[in-house]
This record gives sequence, structure tokens and C-alpha cells, in this order.
Amino acid sequence: MSETNEHSRLILPSELSSSTSTTEVTLSWSNLYVETRDSGSSCWSSISSSCFRRHKKKQEKSRIILQDVTGNARTGQILAIMGTSGVGKTTLMNALSGHLGDNLVVPSGNVYLNGFPTTDTERRKSGHIGYAEQQEFFIDTMSLEEHLIFQAMLRLPSELTDDERRSRVKNTIAQLHLNKCMKNTINQLSGGEKKRLALASVFLTEPSVLLIDEPTSGLDSYLAMHIMRTIHSMAFEQRKTVIVVIHQPTSSMFDLCDIIFLLVKGGRQAFYGTKDEALEFFIKQCHLSPSSIDGFIEQLAAPPNRNVDEDTNIQTQVADQYASSEQAVALKETIEHQLTLGNNTILTDRMKLFKNPTFGRQVKWLLWRSFVSDTRNSVRTTFVLFRTVVLTCIFGIVYFQLCRSGHFMQNVNAVSFTVVALTVNASAYVILSTMPINNKIGIRENHRGMFSILAYYVSVVVHDFPMLITFPLLVNTIIYWMSGMDNTWSHYLSFIAVGILVSNTASAYGQFFASFSSTIEGAISASVPILQTFTILSGFFLSLTHIPTALRVLQYISPHYYAYTTFMILEWKTGSITHQLNCSRSENYLESINQVSSYNYSRAEFCSRILRHSGDNIDGRYLAFNILMLALLFVTCHILAFLVIFYRANRRYVFDFLFKSKTSLMTDYKPFT
Ligand SMILES: Nc1ncnc2c1ncn2[C@@H]1O[C@H](COP(=O)(O)OP(=O)(O)OP(=O)(O)O)[C@@H](O)[C@H]1O
Ligand SMILES: [Mg+2]
Repeated sequence: MSETNEHSRLILPSELSSSTSTTEVTLSWSNLYVETRDSGSSCWSSISSSCFRRHKKKQEKSRIILQDVTGNARTGQILAIMGTSGVGKTTLMNALSGHLGDNLVVPSGNVYLNGFPTTDTERRKSGHIGYAEQQEFFIDTMSLEEHLIFQAMLRLPSELTDDERRSRVKNTIAQLHLNKCMKNTINQLSGGEKKRLALASVFLTEPSVLLIDEPTSGLDSYLAMHIMRTIHSMAFEQRKTVIVVIHQPTSSMFDLCDIIFLLVKGGRQAFYGTKDEALEFFIKQCHLSPSSIDGFIEQLAAPPNRNVDEDTNIQTQVADQYASSEQAVALKETIEHQLTLGNNTILTDRMKLFKNPTFGRQVKWLLWRSFVSDTRNSVRTTFVLFRTVVLTCIFGIVYFQLCRSGHFMQNVNAVSFTVVALTVNASAYVILSTMPINNKIGIRENHRGMFSILAYYVSVVVHDFPMLITFPLLVNTIIYWMSGMDNTWSHYLSFIAVGILVSNTASAYGQFFASFSSTIEGAISASVPILQTFTILSGFFLSLTHIPTALRVLQYISPHYYAYTTFMILEWKTGSITHQLNCSRSENYLESINQVSSYNYSRAEFCSRILRHSGDNIDGRYLAFNILMLALLFVTCHILAFLVIFYRANRRYVFDFLFKSKTSLMTDYKPFT
């Protein structure tokens, strides 16, 4: 089928019949201000400024992004937010949907649903508002259909059965004509298909209010027009309230919009009203001469031959003119009238319908997504496995049967250290190379009310567990038998068990480091020096009794240290040493060390001497202590990682609580002024 034909059969408004009745919801906002949080109100600056008062003057002042904007989006209409790049369109959409960035505050203003003032959380979690963001994040290895199934399982009303949810997914796919590519993974989709997938994720939940940020950018005019027609049908036929941000609309796209909301530099409102009112306002009141409203938008976009001051001047004049215009007064009166009718049944009814999925259901579907994503990503998984086996075999060849040679003690220590370094670093880096992005998506989905951070974190730990058993099992087995460490099953099994514990502790460290950063590069570059320091402090390279006291503290949180020490004790104290002494190499070894061969040590004394020789505090009595410490670090790192992610997901509430700043929480409902 040709591209044009494919496009032409994309959306026919008549095809879009609503299967469910929609609650009619009006979204309005009044006197909304958004500004960046004063840098002095961050946790760190508060602490630092109280410690170093002289720096206080240098703290950055907050920056206003939106000032005094008021608007009203009604059922059955499309409200188009317009304005040049950087005027605050996305910020307004974020504020309306309850997704403002943590560093932004709302010093005044309210957002109402049917005239009732709402908090950020209520708007996010009520299910009334569906928000397709300017930049959506997807798990690229999921197929389009799987992505929608996951959304359906956690975002639709609790009374629906799984089959009903799946059939809703099918309908939505058909509605947006995505059938052809529903089995494609998201990274195989075209830009237009991804846009439609973002819309499908919003349409799926059948919200009453649709907020869509730039649905048409980056699409050819034909596809852009079809998407606008779909949105128009949603508004008109399904009685939805729709707010879209559009850049450079064609005149036919423009015709589909009912209300124009214009923002200009400094986040000021320059107009709200119908297209006819807009033309009248710009021509009669502002004395501009555009032939059409889009012509006026073009004028605002500062053509290259106009200087910046002149451009700012025109925009300021228009915004001033609007502030005292009849349209602005009429809008305020409309909202005031809505407030007198406002009641919160709209929220409570929907909240009853949209009960959070149970904890078990949340974990189950999060795990489903992780495993499906893994199977889709089998090439990568196989590659990681293959690389690990090859690397381990290379080490195995280098150390081949060296643990049975004359200098076996040094070789056994080297093999133990190599196993520790391989296990800890590989386990930590596997986590660091995926979790920063997963956490970012997890926090975003948590904001949409799909699952709790605890369910998310539990699913992450459970999902990683099979890998953290397989990995050390493979590495340790290969190295163990190739290097000829010992040939008793009991020693081998303890070697594997400790390897599994070390791998899990290392992954907990990885989770902890990854929890701070939202980029993979950031997480890896911050953790490399720390992991390197831990490696040096393992006890293999230097005698830890002689390092500075400050560094010794780090030794006690080094997984390498406890892991290496445990392997040493296992090798030289428990069971194995008996074997060592019974084989001929021990005699070689005894002969090779003067102070040992010149005395007639008992076996027990020989063991303890080797242990002391191998490193500090390597004493058989500490085996249980070392294992306990590894387990304790495992638990502590996971708890800390969970708390950091939880904090990141709830940062603005923590800030509000600590600094008593009023953000978009809007708990104190201000009367309209
Ligand atoms: N979290 C934030 N912290 C600091 N500044 C921000 C933040 N979010 C947005 N801004 C700033 O606010 C201004 C408005 O940004 P916004 O993304 O809302 O613009 P926009 O109108 O959507 O632009 P575009 O059309 O390019 O998408 C920009 O100058 C931007 O740098
Ligand atoms: Mg934007």
C-alpha cells in the first residue's frame, strides 16, 4: 500500500464512536504563576547557607516562567495553546496535569475541575486527565501491543476483567490504525507511529480531559492533519475537553481549534478567546495588521530582520492590552460563575471507580513487563552471557591448574581476588547500565498512579534475582575447576554460595548508585571511582593495617573486602587446608617459605599462619561475621536505594514540607480575585 493511501485510511472521524459514556469535565485555571524554586530553598543550599553565611548573597533568585495566566477549557471544544518556543506552553500543560518539575513552584493560582479547586495529586491520580507529553519515554524493547496491555492492566478501572482490558487495547489500536505495527517493538516504530502510540496510551483510559503537547510536530502535513481530525472527533463526538499545544498550524488545522490561548515572552498571557475574537482583538485593540490569526503568530515569532527589543516590545504591548481587555474580564467572570457551581462529586465518583490495583497485581504486571522486555532483548542478554563466559574462560586459561602448582598460595589468592572483582564489578555494572532509565520511567508511571514505588522496587529486586544466581554460578564454576582450586564438593558449594551472596550485594550497590542519577553515563561515572577504591581496599593489594584511619572506614563498607576475606577464610581455614596439606604441593610450599620450613608447625598453626600471611583480620573465627556483613550491606543498600527513589518521586512534597513553600499542592484554596 502506498504511503498516501496508508495515511488516507488512518482516521475517519465517523469511525470514532465512543463505547463508553464520558463524564463532562471543564478544566479551568486562574491567576496561575509558575516560577523556579529559589536556589536557597534546596536542601543542600539551606544547609550550606546556614554553615557558610557569606555565600548567601550569591544564591540565584527564582525565575518566573508563567505569570498570571487564566483559562477555561470546555467539553466538546479544542483549546489550542500557542506561542513561540520557550514561552511556557509545556510548563502550563505540566501545571494543569499536575506534573510540574520538582524545581518549579506555584506561588499563586488554582486549577479547577468543574469549578472545584484540585491538588496536583488529585488531578494526576483521579483518571480525569490524560496527558500525552511532548517527550514520552517508552521501554523500547516492548512491542506496541505489550506497552498498551501493561498500561491497561494498571490504569483502567478495577471492575474491568483482564479480558475486557485486552479488548479495550484492541479497540484503541484499531481506532488509531496501529494494527499493522502492533507487534513491532517500540524502537522499530516510525516517529508518526510513536506519536500515535502516545495518543493511544492516553485514549485507552478514556479520560474526560485530554492534554496533548505538540501532537503534530515532526509529522508530515497529511499525517498531522489526520491526527488533528482524530483529536477533533474525540472532542466533538465523544464530548471530551481537549487542550493541545500546536506549533505552526496550517490553516485547515487551525480551523479545527475552537479557542486560542496565546502565550508570549516572559510567560505572559496575550489572548484567550475564539478565532474571530482574536482577529478583532489584534486588529482593533492592538492595531496590528495580520490577515489571519496564524499570521499574527508568525509576527510574534521574531523574524530575523527584526531586533529582539522590538520583538519583546510588541509582545509586552499585546500582553498589557489583553490584561485590561473585555475578553480577560469576561473570562474571569465565567470562571467565577463556575466556582459558585463547583462541587467535588466529580472527583470522588471517579476516585471510587479508579481504586489503585492491589500491591500483588502491581508487582505481577511490573514483573511481566520486565521479563517480556528481557525476552525481546534476547540478543543483548545472550551477548552479555557470552561475553562473561568468554572472559571467565580466558581467566581460567591464565590460571589453568595454577592452584596446584608450587606457589599455590599466591595463585589461590589471585584466583579468589579475580572472582571477587569479576563478580562485584559485573553485577554492579549490569544494574548501572539499565536502572537509571528504568527508574526515570518508573517514577513517571508512579506519578500517573499506576503503582507504588515499593511495588516497583520489589519487582526490580525479584526480577534481577535469577540473573544474580546464574551469573556467579557460571563464573565461579568455570574458574574454580579450571584453576584447580580444590576438589571437594563442600568447598565448591560454599564457594558458589558466597559468590551468589557477593553478586547480590554488588547489585544492591549498583541499585544504590543508580538511584541517584537519571542518566546511565552519570551513574557509571560517579560509581567508577568508588568501586575502584573498594577494589584497592579489598586487602589483596596492600596491608590494610597500615593505611590511614580515614580510609579504613571505607574498607568496612567495601563489598570487595568482605568478599575477598570470606574467600580467604573458606580457602585456608575451613576444610580446604586439610586437603592442601595432604597434597604434595604443600610440601613444596613449606620448603619455599623459610620461616615455615625451619619450624615444625602443627597443621592448625600452619593454617592460621597462612591466614595471617594472606591479609589482615583474616581469621577463621570471622567467617560468620563477614557473611553477615555482606548480607547487612545487601539489605542496607537496597533500603537506601528504595528511599532515594521514593524521595525522587515525592521530592516536591518533601520540599514543600521542609520549606513550607506553597507549590501546586494548593491545599489552601484561594478565593478567585
Ligand atoms: N524545570 C525547569 N526548571 C527551570 N527552567 C525551566 C523548567 N522547565 C522549563 N523551564 C524554562 O521555562 C521556559 C519555558 O519552557 P517550556 O518547556 O514550557 O517552553 P515551551 O513553550 O513548551 O517551548 P517549546 O515550544 O520549545 O516546547 C524555558 O525557558 C525553559 O528553559
Ligand atoms: Mg514545549
